Amino acid sequence: MPLRKLGSSELFVGAIGMGGMPLSVNGRPSESQSIEAIHAAIEQGITFIDTADAYCLNDSENGHNERLIAKALKQHPEVVVATKGGHIRPNGAWVTDGRPDHLRQACEDSLKALGVEAITLYQFHRPDPSVPFAESVGAVADLQREGKIVHIGISNVSVTQLEAALLVTKVVSVQNRMNLFDRSSLDVLKRCEELGIAFLPYSPLTGMGSAGNIGDNETLSRIATAHGASAQQIALAWLLQLSNIIIPIPGSSRKANIINCAEAINVKLTSEDMALLHALAK
Ligand SMILES: NC(=O)c1ccc[n+]([C@@H]2O[C@H](COP(=O)([O-])OP(=O)(O)OC[C@H]3O[C@@H](n4cnc5c(N)ncnc54)[C@H](OP(=O)(O)O)[C@@H]3O)[C@@H](O)[C@H]2O)c1
Repeated sequence: MPLRKLGSSELFVGAIGMGGMPLSVNGRPSESQSIEAIHAAIEQGITFIDTADAYCLNDSENGHNERLIAKALKQHPEVVVATKGGHIRPNGAWVTDGRPDHLRQACEDSLKALGVEAITLYQFHRPDPSVPFAESVGAVADLQREGKIVHIGISNVSVTQLEAALLVTKVVSVQNRMNLFDRSSLDVLKRCEELGIAFLPYSPLTGMGSAGNIGDNETLSRIATAHGASAQQIALAWLLQLSNIIIPIPGSSRKANIINCAEAINVKLTSEDMALLHALAK
């Protein structure tokens, strides 16, 4: 299986990870179906699962996704679980909270939810406009110094914010939105390549509302047919071939779909395919 480095030589993951969000937000499947989807991912060789304390219906059940993943992974200590803190879910809304006190409490809660003594990769979920970015990142760095976090990642950042974070601490990954139709973070990807930092494109299939329909795009559909692949596999293969620091984290609530995503590592796009796919983004 192709491997990608995640910040340090001892931490390699497979080329494709899994995003846990659809298993815990609106429209989520039953717990048994969710666990079946996670186990299917592992059987396909997926060794990296992305989650967050905020992947839940609302803040009465913070940590829902973390607890679910921990339960599914009891027999699978080899899987790297990356969580995040910095969002709260009052009445189901998505609100940022990057205050150091909140991040400290969120990290303690994530440690409990995941049932671990240290979180392998803790990502600051999103800059909070009401808190200086360096203060939030500094709080996460303190948690690392205290041994509660092994590696630090950041998410939803600009190049300027990435540089600002690096003045505070070592960062091993950046998680920003990127897919065939959204290249707004290409500059961040480029900087991550220069720095040797992993890039985790979220919503790699365009997100929960639209991922099932990307095959409606004629170019994508034509390339998929030529490879005997799904449009979603082509979207993931494009990301994998775009850069060798990319670890896509497709979200799925269904065994069949997560198997389909994992098999995207077998799709080899030609340079002509890549050029046609590059031209899809406006
Ligand atoms: N850092 C952040 O701010 C942030 C924001 C958003 C997401 N994320 C992370 O990124 C992960 C992925 O992003 P996302 O969930 O927003 O979007 P996504 O991965 O682009 O799309 C998820 C959707 O794709 C569908 N899907 C998956 N595989 C498929 C396949 N092979 N064929 C057809 N449909 C397929 C899923 O449907 P089924 O459920 O029916 O399989 C699901 O509704 C999340 O789970 C989360 O971990 C992070």
